[in-house]
Amino acid sequence: MATPPPPPSSSSVPNRAVITSPQAENGEEFKVSVFASSSELVAKLQENWAEKGKEKPYPAMYSSVYGGITLDPAMMLIPIDDHMVHRGHGVFDTAIILDGHLYELDTHLDRFLRSASQAKITPPYSRSALRSILIQLAAASRCQKGTLRYWASAGPGDFLLSPAGCPTPAFYAVVIQDDFSQCRHGVSVVTSRTTPMKPPLFATMKNVNYLPNVLAKMEAEEKGAFASIWVDEEGYIAEGPNVNVAFITRDRDLVMPPFDKILAGCTARRLLELAPKLVEQGQLRSVTTRNMTLEEAKSSAVAEMMYVGSTLPLLAIVTWDGNPIGDGDGKVAGELTMALSDLLWEDMLYGPPDKRIPIPYSS
Ligand SMILES: Cc1ncc(COP(=O)(O)O)c(C=O)c1O
Repeated sequence: MATPPPPPSSSSVPNRAVITSPQAENGEEFKVSVFASSSELVAKLQENWAEKGKEKPYPAMYSSVYGGITLDPAMMLIPIDDHMVHRGHGVFDTAIILDGHLYELDTHLDRFLRSASQAKITPPYSRSALRSILIQLAAASRCQKGTLRYWASAGPGDFLLSPAGCPTPAFYAVVIQDDFSQCRHGVSVVTSRTTPMKPPLFATMKNVNYLPNVLAKMEAEEKGAFASIWVDEEGYIAEGPNVNVAFITRDRDLVMPPFDKILAGCTARRLLELAPKLVEQGQLRSVTTRNMTLEEAKSSAVAEMMYVGSTLPLLAIVTWDGNPIGDGDGKVAGELTMALSDLLWEDMLYGPPDKRIPIPYSS
């Protein structure tokens, strides 16, 4: 591939010019199109999407910069001078769309506003307006199954470090069509060795700086595993790169690390509310959050292990650093893990009305 040329100075750019690199190597020409009009650029963006086929994975996006919703994926764009783009000054959250309902929207929205406050971002609208935008966006998307993702940023302005030049915070949201289903298989994980976890201030706030999380996931994939496990500097189990982690001990106690240094997962917290049902039925002995050392987690005291997160909602972990979990065969998900998974999946499909907001598609 030819080396891209340096950007031309504006005075040297004729309208509709095709620039040939003065530094073209290996006889290759590097040509850059200059779009003379916005409509030409829009046509090009739409052409890119048309090439991807008929399926549009992003049926709708809201942008406070547009002040409305677009159904055209080619137009789902964020300004390059947004403080979130060039400085990472943004927070985000999600909600699952399942069976025409938004699951746990209010819990996610509360965490979103907590993250925004920690990041010193005041979203451009009130909580009720944000909620209404998200519901209207889901309706406009006509999506029955997928995810809703949304961001608050300091907004567009200039390219400086301080957000002082960004006068209006921004809110963006997108619907992503996704055909997920309850996980019934097990995965392998590794302890993250090369990517340190984020310090508590940044780990507890769902901000857009996910580079450590991406590198931790890549570290696992390079080792042939699904994902990784972070251990904090005191030697306690923390979380996965975009999931919480939970254990079932040999004495049938469900144990989850406390949320003071990691993200308080909405799914993990819902699991803590639902799991006592298995205690009542005698399947579990107790449900607790407490610190667990790496040593204990890898010892014979642990019988089952799992990831917990929105789209899973629960995923059995069957091997860790190459060793099977508990008495398992390193392949099949544990029985109690699946019982907990059933509880969550049932809640996602038939849970109480405050957990499942119907999407008003007809409006
Ligand atoms: C770092 C991290 N931990 C845990 C979770 C699980 O949170 P939730 O259950 O709200 O999806 C996520 C996902 O948002 C995450 O990014």
